[in-house]
This record gives sequence, structure tokens and C-alpha cells, in this order.
Amino acid sequence: SRIRLPARQGGLLLPLLLSLLSVGRGDTFTINCSGFDQYGVDPAAFQAVFDRKAFRPVINYSIPTQVNISFTMSAIVEVDAQLQLMTSFLWLNVIWYNPFIRWNPEECGGIRKISIAAEYLWLPDIFIEEFMDVDQTATGLMAYVNSEGLIKYDKPMKVVSICNLDIFYFPFDEQNCTLTFSSFIYTVENVVLGMEKKVQEISNTSQNLIRSKGEWVLLGIHQRMMKMTVGTNQYDQIIFYVAIKRRPRLYVINLLVPSGFLVAIDALSFYLPAESENRAPFKMTLLLGYNVFLLMMNDLLPATGTPLISVYFALCLSLMVVSLLETIFITYLLHLATTQPPPMPQWLHSLLLYWASPRKCYPSVSQKGNKGLGPTPNHLPGVKEPVELVGKVAGPREAELIGSPESRVQEEQEAQRQPLVDLWVQFSHMMDTLLFRLYLLFMATSVVTVIILWNT
Ligand SMILES: *[C@@H]1O[C@H](CO)[C@@H](O)[C@H](O)[C@H]1NC(C)=O
Ligand SMILES: *[C@@H]1O[C@H](CO)[C@@H](O)[C@H](O)[C@H]1NC(C)=O
Ligand SMILES: *[C@@H]1O[C@H](CO)[C@@H](O)[C@H](O)[C@H]1NC(C)=O
Ligand SMILES: *[C@@H]1O[C@H](CO)[C@@H](O)[C@H](O)[C@H]1NC(C)=O
Ligand SMILES: *[C@@H]1O[C@H](CO)[C@@H](O)[C@H](O)[C@H]1NC(C)=O
Repeated sequence: SRIRLPARQGGLLLPLLLSLLSVGRGDTFTINCSGFDQYGVDPAAFQAVFDRKAFRPVINYSIPTQVNISFTMSAIVEVDAQLQLMTSFLWLNVIWYNPFIRWNPEECGGIRKISIAAEYLWLPDIFIEEFMDVDQTATGLMAYVNSEGLIKYDKPMKVVSICNLDIFYFPFDEQNCTLTFSSFIYTVENVVLGMEKKVQEISNTSQNLIRSKGEWVLLGIHQRMMKMTVGTNQYDQIIFYVAIKRRPRLYVINLLVPSGFLVAIDALSFYLPAESENRAPFKMTLLLGYNVFLLMMNDLLPATGTPLISVYFALCLSLMVVSLLETIFITYLLHLATTQPPPMPQWLHSLLLYWASPRKCYPSVSQKGNKGLGPTPNHLPGVKEPVELVGKVAGPREAELIGSPESRVQEEQEAQRQPLVDLWVQFSHMMDTLLFRLYLLFMATSVVTVIILWNT
């Protein structure tokens, strides 16, 4: 229903045209574009439109302007867990009608759309409510205007938006950030928001566009329309939910794998014989190494909250500390057994016999009791060494002291002591095996628990 000015009246002056336009009657809003095909666009023809840019372009002020928006997310620059900010890049597209700009393309040299500097046009004040930084939009942007008065205004935006980030599952976390588009001052009586494209399309193009192999992957975008009420005013809102997911590979390689290796080595170090002098220093070195690793990796971890990975690290550290404590305990026990074995309580003795019996150790123990410093009995394989050790230590001393009556007494004492020493040594090794199994059990359950938590 576009009504042109009465054609070719001639002699109509520009001021008259302007006055006609500003009166605002529906049939006078066609731009006179004679000469556009010969002299280019005449700025005077658009002057009336430019003069009105301070006001919302509608003929009847009780009709709201429909503003349709869409955007393309071109990059996810950064997600800051400490400040709870997501920095992304958007190309915002805004479309609305300006009823004062229309022309007849046939009269205007076939021009169907022209670009106009955006600063000369009324622009809807669309903003993102999660904005946490000043909008650093480039100035001097253009807008396309077609012959029907449809204005397409696109602008690139660097959006620093606040986002509720939950880092519990770090580095396997997914975040759900919201971008709420709304008009800053216009209520629903003046500006109504709409979608320019289907949200599925926005999601698809954004996913195709974000080619950067950054830390974050865009999973999808969902949308919801809302009306926000503040006092008596209602504002139109479009909420976009941006679902993103972290690429965990960097963290798996730099955090999980090394600490897993260290714990595995720690577990394997239980196979170092308990009598060897190396076991405790070895574990101590591992513990030190782990501490250095934790210090270096502190930078990679999010600074706020308690992610599950911190619990995992604490668990690894405590496993190492516990295994070192266990080694100290066993070393102490062995030392006690070989130097001054205390009398063994009856219950412990029977318990040892009971434990040892399925592995036919019982006869060897009783045999040993008779023989004293005889050849090493074949009970637990690990026990062999200390007995030999004790034997070697006792050997030379024995040779030196031979002949004197004191030496004979000592020899007898030694012979009496030996079964007790063996029993205590055997007990220490059983404790070692038992504690090692408990350690393995604890490690397995905690690792399984952490993995299950990560997968839910
Ligand atoms: C358009 O403007 C030209 C001068 O710029 C004038 O000669 C012509 O008559 C005008 N046409 C109409 C329809 O007003
Ligand atoms: C403006 O629009 C309102 C609501 O649509 C309508 O009631 C009113 O008559 C219109 N005014 C004019 C001058 O067309
Ligand atoms: C905005 O979108 C609605 C449908 O969602 C459509 O009816 C309307 O014409 C569009 N307006 C503009 C200015 O594109
Ligand atoms: C988006 O992409 C999916 C597959 O990648 C396709 O099935 C779907 O039709 C696309 N949707 C739109 C609106 O383009
Ligand atoms: C994001 O959160 C909103 C509500 O908080 C929810 O409606 C939406 O489904 C969530 N989206 C995803 C992809 O999890």
C-alpha cells in the first residue's frame, strides 16, 4: 500500500517537500530520487529522514517498533573462572522498519538498497544485560536500507559477559552461559523484540564459524523469550543459552597423567624389599617430586572453588604420605625385631601361626625353634633376607668371641633370641603385605570414586 507522490508535478521546492514530510501524512513518505541514476544519491533527498533520527521512526506512536535480532558467535576468546567472565565475539544483526525511507526502484535507476552511515539513523538501543565491560564497538558503521524501508544494521561486538561458572568438574566441565538481549529504555509499548533467524540456524552457523582450536567448544545455543517487569514497565527480552565445553586434553596430559604415574611408582615401590635401605629415601624423593609438580601446576588450576581435581591431587599426596609412614613403621618394626625383640604376646603368636598355616609355614617355624641358627627356613620369601642378614652380623662376632665363657653365654642368649627375632621379622613382613593391600584397596576405591564423579 505504497502511495507515491503525485508524479512529475514539477517546480516543487525542497523546503516544501520537507514541510510535507514533517507533517507526517502517510502518503508523503516516498523519497524523491530523480537524478539518482545520473548524479548519484542526492543527500538532500534523505535530509528529512536524517533530521528525524532522534525519534523512533513510526507514523502512529501507539504502534511499537518490531526489532528483530540475531547474532553469530565468531569466537570464544576466554573464560575466566576467577572473575566468572566469558569473553566472546559476536556479530550482531538488527533489523527494523523505518516507514519514512521508501522509494520506487524503477524511478531511481533500479537502486533497490543503499548503505547509509548508521550515525544518521535512529538505532534501537539493544544491549546485553550480562555486559561487564564497556561496549567497544567500532564507530563509523553502516546500515543497509532497502526500498521498502527495511534497515539492516550489523555490528561486531566483543562481549565480556558475566556467567555463572561451575568448575567442580574441571577439566571435564561444561558451562551454560546466558546472553540476554533487551532494549535499554524502550518498554514493550515502544519496542518489541523478535528473532531474525531460527535459533538452530544461529547455533549451526556459529558452530561452523568457530574454527579456532581454542580451549572451548561451542555445544549449542538455545533461546527463550521473556518479559521482564520493573515496576510498572515491561521490557522485552530474548535470552540465549550458550552451552560450551572445555577441551580437556591439555589438562589430562599435563596434570592427570604425571600425577597418575607418580602414584603408580609409589605403589610399585612397595616391592622394594622392606629391609633395603632404599625404600624410605625413594618414597621421600617421590613425595618431593610430587610437591614440585603441584607447585608448577598451580597456575593451570582455576583459582576459585574446589574442583574435583584438587581433591584428586590431595588424595594422591596423602597416598604418598601414608605409604611413606608405612615404610617408616615397617622399618622401625624390623629394627626392633633384629636388635631387641620384645616378648611376643601369646595372641599375636597364635595369630601369626594361624595366618602362616595355609602356606605351610607352621612346621618351619617350630623346626626353627629347635634348630636356632640353622639354615634359613623356607617360609615367606621376603623373610629370607633379614635372617641371612642377622646371621651374617652374628657370624663374625661369634668367631671373635669364641673360647671365652661370656661368649658361650652370649651364644646361648643369641640362640634363644633367634626364634623370637624370626617371628617378629615374619610379623613385620605380614604387616607390610597387609598394609600394602589396604593401600591398594584405598587407592582403587578413591580412583574409581573420582572417575565416577567425573562421569556424572
Ligand atoms: C524531485 O526533485 C526534482 C529536483 O531535485 C524535481 O525536479 C522533481 O519535480 C521532484 N519530483 C517530485 C515527484 O517531486
Ligand atoms: C494509532 O494506533 C492505535 C492502535 O493501533 C489506533 O487505535 C489509533 O487509531 C491509531 N491512530 C491513528 C491516527 O491512526
Ligand atoms: C520480525 O519477525 C517477525 C516474525 O518473527 C516478522 O513477522 C516481522 O515481519 C519481522 N520484522 C522485521 C522488521 O523483520
Ligand atoms: C543444523 O545442522 C544439523 C546437522 O549439523 C542439521 O541437521 C540441521 O538441519 C541444521 N539446522 C539448520 C536450521 O540449518
Ligand atoms: C542452561 O540453563 C537454563 C536454565 O538455567 C536451562 O533452561 C537450559 O536448558 C540450559 N541449557 C543447557 C544446554 O544446559
